Amino acid sequence: MDIVKYLQAQGIGSRKMCRILLQQERILIDGALPSHEITDTSNIKQLMIDGKSLPALPLPYFYILLNKPAGFETSHKPTHYPSVFSLLPTHWQNLSLQAVGRLDADTEGVLLITNDGSLNHFLTSPKHHVVKIYHATLKHAADDDLCHQLTQGVVLRDRNEEESVQAIAAELKNPHLLALSIDSGQYHQVKRMISACGNRVEYLERIAFASLQTGDLSRGQWRLLSPQEIEALRYNSQQQIK
Ligand code: URA
Repeated sequence: MDIVKYLQAQGIGSRKMCRILLQQERILIDGALPSHEITDTSNIKQLMIDGKSLPALPLPYFYILLNKPAGFETSHKPTHYPSVFSLLPTHWQNLSLQAVGRLDADTEGVLLITNDGSLNHFLTSPKHHVVKIYHATLKHAADDDLCHQLTQGVVLRDRNEEESVQAIAAELKNPHLLALSIDSGQYHQVKRMISACGNRVEYLERIAFASLQTGDLSRGQWRLLSPQEIEALRYNSQQQIK
């Protein structure tokens, strides 16, 4: 692959900008000045630009797991808070990154970001019933009746339409902490389901999205998924298809 095309695909900048950086020897690939042609992009681990190290994105598709903090909007055009994309390296803003589903500005936890539109479409399509697990801190102490209502189905109103939505599992960890698994993804779904039962979510965290969990990532941190994790995500998601 042509080095300029490779750098552009990494979001480094325009063709012209990449050529200038190369001419001025300001870019190192895995510690060395790059040649004009790269034979195997999959082995590249690290780019260094003006002495600043960046992970090399696998091409053509890459998958980023972000532990989303509160106070960030899942949008490229945020209105009240900064964008979740601002938590990623600045030059990645040049790439066509999309979040896989949305988390509210005050929700924290697992958020997958990718440039793979077809996997994104697959994972967010209501047809495919991808499982999401949330921990919701409740305003009012609850008992098993809440779990029963949520798994039996609650009515959500959307404009003038009403729809019954069921959780696939609900368990109280304590009277104020609910673990809720859902396989659909409507607007504010968890908060609306819990309000429909007469309670209120005070804090919401997504613990899992399909096979992904935040693990060791602290809030605001991200990492690239490994090929094995991507495989598992595709495989697990396909297993979940009803
Ligand atoms: N459900 C919600 O209510 N909010 C989220 O951010 C995600 C699911």
